[in-house]
Amino acid sequence: MTDTLFTGISQLVTPQRGPQRGAAMRELNIIPDAALLVSGEVIEWVGPAKDVPKAAHTHDLGGVAVVSGLVDPHTHAVWAGDRLADFEARVSGVPYEEILARGGGIRSTMRSTAKASVAELVELARPRLQALRASGATTTEVKSGYGLDFPAELRMLRAIRELRAEFELVPTLLIHVPPTQGRADYVLAVSNELIPEVASAGLATAVDVFCEKEAFDVMETHTILAAAKKHGLNIKLHADQFHTIGGTELACKLGALSADHLEASKLKQIRALAASKTVATILPAVTLHLGLPAAQGRKLIDAGAAVAVGTDLNPGSAPLFSTQLALALAVRLCGLTPAEALTASTVNAAAALGLNDRGALAAGQRADFLALHSPDWRDLAYTLGGSPVRDVFVAGVKC
Ligand code: NIG
Ligand code: FE
Repeated sequence: MTDTLFTGISQLVTPQRGPQRGAAMRELNIIPDAALLVSGEVIEWVGPAKDVPKAAHTHDLGGVAVVSGLVDPHTHAVWAGDRLADFEARVSGVPYEEILARGGGIRSTMRSTAKASVAELVELARPRLQALRASGATTTEVKSGYGLDFPAELRMLRAIRELRAEFELVPTLLIHVPPTQGRADYVLAVSNELIPEVASAGLATAVDVFCEKEAFDVMETHTILAAAKKHGLNIKLHADQFHTIGGTELACKLGALSADHLEASKLKQIRALAASKTVATILPAVTLHLGLPAAQGRKLIDAGAAVAVGTDLNPGSAPLFSTQLALALAVRLCGLTPAEALTASTVNAAAALGLNDRGALAAGQRADFLALHSPDWRDLAYTLGGSPVRDVFVAGVKC
């Protein structure tokens, strides 16, 4: 196994191993004038440059800040078609939920995606995943959920499986919106047919449900997530995006890895998350793009919750192709400090995917890290538009 010693690091900046909750999210480890020793895919040592151990190879990064690689815990990066007409209607005043209720929105993306082959879906998703990785995402979750029927859903998951040869991805089966007729039968078929098939083929590690007025109610969500647990899959929810119908409480009760969105969450839901192990994943691009209220990141952290941040990259509610920009928006729109946002985008985002082997720059963790353009790590939270990320290393290898 090759050892490489990375030098020329003005600051090495990392959260503590995760997940971290409440005030501990602000406790970064900042080592000035540092070095980082990587052995194969794993970090062997980090510390001050004056204490460097011996290594076969040295890689001088030229005096810039190094931070943990970002984890994007919530994307819908596989889709076909576009939502440009929806966008134009929305910014002219038609609400997102109304477009969905009329059969557009998510349902229009389902119609386009159902027509695409696995190979076409792979070609469409690749540049999106490249953009996320160039922005700093060293691990990315990708959901299905635009399948009109089960074969289309399985094609999405197979596309994600193919893309895993090129990217570090975590696949999730998303049960997104019910059919307009026969929803009770659909919930049963998802639970008794689709979930067992996906679990036995190893096509997803988690199941997510959109628990919302225009999608699945709490009872339906419960049935689907219980089936997921029975088949050994992790569970997560889209909860409280528009209405507090009980999704967050259900996520906490069932031990979901994460409850995501939370724009409509009130004190009751914030307290439930703070008292649970469920990660509160906030998605500030949706606030920006749909003009929704922002998830109350500040209140969640002050209440003691573990908060994560993601892009929610999708064609309808968040056409955001930068995980770094999601971090920067969480600071502007959800009241996180830069330090909290780094923890939210690394170890806590990994925990939202059930992973604890990454997100911190510490011995034994995966060697996923970013070299910035700047000697000061705070550029990561500061920069809007241009990328502060110069080099992306995934498992010790520069992409
Ligand atoms: O996380 N709200 C549900 N699902 C996605 C949006 C998907 C879409 O609009 O295509 C979300 O916002
Ligand atoms: Fe989503």
